[in-house]
Formats: sequence, structure tokens, C-alpha cells
Amino acid sequence: MQYHHNFPAFYNGKYLNINEISISPLDRGFLFGDSIYEAIPVYAGKTLDEEGHIERLMEGLNSVGIISPYSSSAWRSLLEPLLDRQAVAQLIYIQVSRGNETSRKHRFPVACEPNVLMFSNSFIPPIDLNYQGCAGHLQEDFRWQRCDIKSTSLMGNVLAYQKLYRDGVANDEALLVRDGKVVEAPSSNIFAYKNGVIYTPSLGNILGGITRSINIKLAKDVGLNVVEEAPSCEFIKTAQEVWVTNSMEELKPVVSIDGEMIGDGLPGPIWRELFHAFQGLKA
Ligand SMILES: Cc1ncc(COP(=O)(O)O)c(C=O)c1O
Repeated sequence: MQYHHNFPAFYNGKYLNINEISISPLDRGFLFGDSIYEAIPVYAGKTLDEEGHIERLMEGLNSVGIISPYSSSAWRSLLEPLLDRQAVAQLIYIQVSRGNETSRKHRFPVACEPNVLMFSNSFIPPIDLNYQGCAGHLQEDFRWQRCDIKSTSLMGNVLAYQKLYRDGVANDEALLVRDGKVVEAPSSNIFAYKNGVIYTPSLGNILGGITRSINIKLAKDVGLNVVEEAPSCEFIKTAQEVWVTNSMEELKPVVSIDGEMIGDGLPGPIWRELFHAFQGLKA
């Protein structure tokens, strides 16, 4: 996704160009990463599972004690002016910080109003049926123990992608390992297919990806067996197919892991079927 310096946004009740927004240096999102975010995919002006994304936003806010400044239906109407029918695809980001701090104490301030930022970025979906797949690299997962919360405190995720960049493989994917199991990628959920079964880590200390839920549903709809269990490092290398899911890359095949080929080293038929089915949801 290319970031231009000129795109529509919303800040604390006003629709503005992103350039016109200024955020206080005392914003707790800036000071402490004390904020929750959401990224909603939009295709030709139509959101994909907006309800699921808003629900996750509300749950995230609730789990960190930020009172949502808007109801679900109010969030949904606030999004509307940012939807662009001319854009092939957009991601609408919503960021809600706890508000501005005055004393720089870590504990929640007694009175503070959340700051709400929304912005829209258009992009061209980067994966298609001719996609050749990317390589995966196992990395230790040293993120915190509440990765189910979509918090903007993303240092672990940033460092994971920076390691790929430093290693000269910025376009590959990091596969994060906890206790010998592959649990998540830094911005996606993981799927592995072997002998008629699709494995994906169970919810707990991973983000409940909306694309993950859609993927599980699509798989079940076509009669595939889905087991919610994290594959071990050894097991995933012997899978016939591996892919990761998120709202921008949709379903992205991983065709090797630490140099070992997955299946025949190309995106496989199960990915193809599910990816194709996913495309049908955009219409
Ligand atoms: C850590 C992590 N896991 C999974 C996902 C996928 O979530 P979704 O499918 O809702 O985009 C994301 C998305 O940004 C993420 O940051």
C-alpha cells in the first residue's frame, strides 16, 4: 500500500484532509501506545464484514477500559463519508486513543476523552490467482500476552518485519513461534493444510482476524475439515499448503518455510478454491 500525503480523514468529530489534522503530543496513544485500532477493507465503496470489524473494535475498547465514544451504528454512519466507490479497494483505519494525558502517569487518567482518528487509504489488492507465493521465516514471538487485543502497541510486530527487511527479504512473511508452535504472522493469521485437514491456531493469545473467521467459514462451507490448533514448527514444514490471512492481503500463500519447500513450492488447490470463494464475497 502506498501512503500519499493527501487523503480523507476524520478527527474528533470533523472530516478533514489528513494534512489538516494535528494530534496533541500528550495523546496517550503517542505516549504509551494506549490505543486500539481497526482496519476495515472496502471494495468499490462496499465494506466487507463491517459488522465484524466494528464489533472487534468495541470489544477491544472494552477490554482496555476505554469507553467507546460511539455506538456500533454511529461508528457505521461515521465511516460512510470515507467510502469511495471509485476506489478498487480501501482500508479504513480507525484509531481510538484513551485521550490526552496531563500528568504522564501510566494509570488511566481520571477524566479524559478518547481521541478518534479515522483515515482511508486506497490500495490495489496485491494477491491474485497468479500469485507465486512468498517465503516464510520462523521467528521467535516475543510480543505480549494479550495479542487478542488490537492495540497500537506494535513494537513486537514492527521488529519482526524489520528483521525481514534487514535480512533482505522484506517481501517474505515472518511466522511467529511460541512454545514450539507457529501461532501467527505479525499482521496475519496462519493456515496450514495437510491430509484433508486445515489447521489454524485457536483463539487465545492471537488476534481474532476477521479474514480468519471468513476463511474458516468458507472452508467449512465447501466441506473441508477445520481444526483450531497451532501447528508445530516441524509439522508446518510438512504441510501440503500454508497461507496467511488479513484484510489487505486476503489469503496469501506461503510456499517455503526456512528454505524448505511447502508442497510443490507453488500456491496449492485448497488455497486456490478458498481464495476464489473469497473474491465472490466482494461483489
Ligand atoms: C497480528 C495480526 N494478526 C492477524 C491480523 C488479521 O486480521 P484481519 O483479518 O481482521 O485483518 C492482523 C491484521 O492486521 C494482525 O495485525
